[in-house]
Amino acid sequence: MAIGGILPLAIGVGSSAVWFPVTGERISIAHGSDLFQHHCKRCHSNDASRQDGMGPSLAKIGQVAATRVAGMSAEQYLWESIVFPDRFKAVEDGQMPNGYDAILSNRELKDLVAYLSSLGSSPNFRNVIGLADAPQTRQATDGLTLKLTNIENGRQLFTETFQCQSCHGWGEHFAGQDLAAPSLNGVGLMGRDWLTTSIRDPSKQIAKKYRSVQCLTEDGDTHVGRLLSQDDARIELLSQDASGKYHIRKLKRDELVEIRDGSEVLIRDTSPMPAWTSQQMSDSQLDDIVSFLLTLRD
Ligand code: HEC
Ligand code: HEC
Repeated sequence: MAIGGILPLAIGVGSSAVWFPVTGERISIAHGSDLFQHHCKRCHSNDASRQDGMGPSLAKIGQVAATRVAGMSAEQYLWESIVFPDRFKAVEDGQMPNGYDAILSNRELKDLVAYLSSLGSSPNFRNVIGLADAPQTRQATDGLTLKLTNIENGRQLFTETFQCQSCHGWGEHFAGQDLAAPSLNGVGLMGRDWLTTSIRDPSKQIAKKYRSVQCLTEDGDTHVGRLLSQDDARIELLSQDASGKYHIRKLKRDELVEIRDGSEVLIRDTSPMPAWTSQQMSDSQLDDIVSFLLTLRD
């Protein structure tokens, strides 16, 4: 990998880290990549061939970031996008969570910026080292007071009464479970209003990656599911049978009927997540579930 703009006294450590003996700082792209997997991947793809989640693909963000704001370096733009997400609007729809400066240390923020600026480009380590310290405003917790009894009740409603964890992984229970529904780790940063809408009216803000599509075969069968992959010959769907079990179905394109504008795939605008009305889930139950979700900030 080509490394641009290293300070004279920087020493390369392997291919993905540099160490600055004068300041004692060590910047690690590999560590930034781990942080990305943990905190960001549920919304952002880093692979051009994959569908996006709630946020835009960051597959080439190192290159794109340099062009976003005239006179601002890619590294500075990336840092501000994470620490002050309200400053820029990259795409019209969707909301980037607030409060990563309360969760990530300054060192972690720098590693993350170094990793992002390596996507489609080469990081300028001098710019990474020069980034300011985050203000640590802890926006995510500002004005947030939660009662333990509400959180505990919410946890019980989530795991037992409404069986949300039959689809969603969270906390220790995540175990890579995000095939049918997103892991809810980190979702607490989204705030109360966003979470309330996600549960009462999930079709208003659908994670693109989990959209359902519909296909019709020549013999009249309709198939609905999450689009896992498609090429010229086949379409792969993840669908649920009547007993709730998930299956991967492979459909041959030449056995499908054209549904709309030359396409055999119809993207549904309803979320696969069930909407809970106030008859099924009272306002106070919803508030408690949201209180519990607000604690999932990491
Ligand atoms: C809940 C979904 C979500 C999560 C989690 C999330 N983001 Fe975002 N992000 C978005 C959305 C939506 C946008 C576009 C709207 C905007 O720019 O504010 C965005 C925009 C961005 C941009 C600007 C992209 C551009 O093209 O200019 C960057 C950079 C970014 N996010 C980085 C991150 C990083 C790093 C993390 C993890 C620490 C992260 N995001 C976590 C939803 C998310
Ligand atoms: C049948 C499976 C299923 C069940 C049960 C389910 N969900 Fe979901 N949920 C999904 C899917 C799929 C998505 C992603 C699509 C979307 O954004 O609407 C989602 C999205 C969400 C989101 C938005 C997360 C994000 O990052 O986009 C939240 C919050 C959420 N669900 C909470 C809940 C809660 C709380 C319950 C229980 C009351 C629940 N879900 C039950 C399937 C389910």
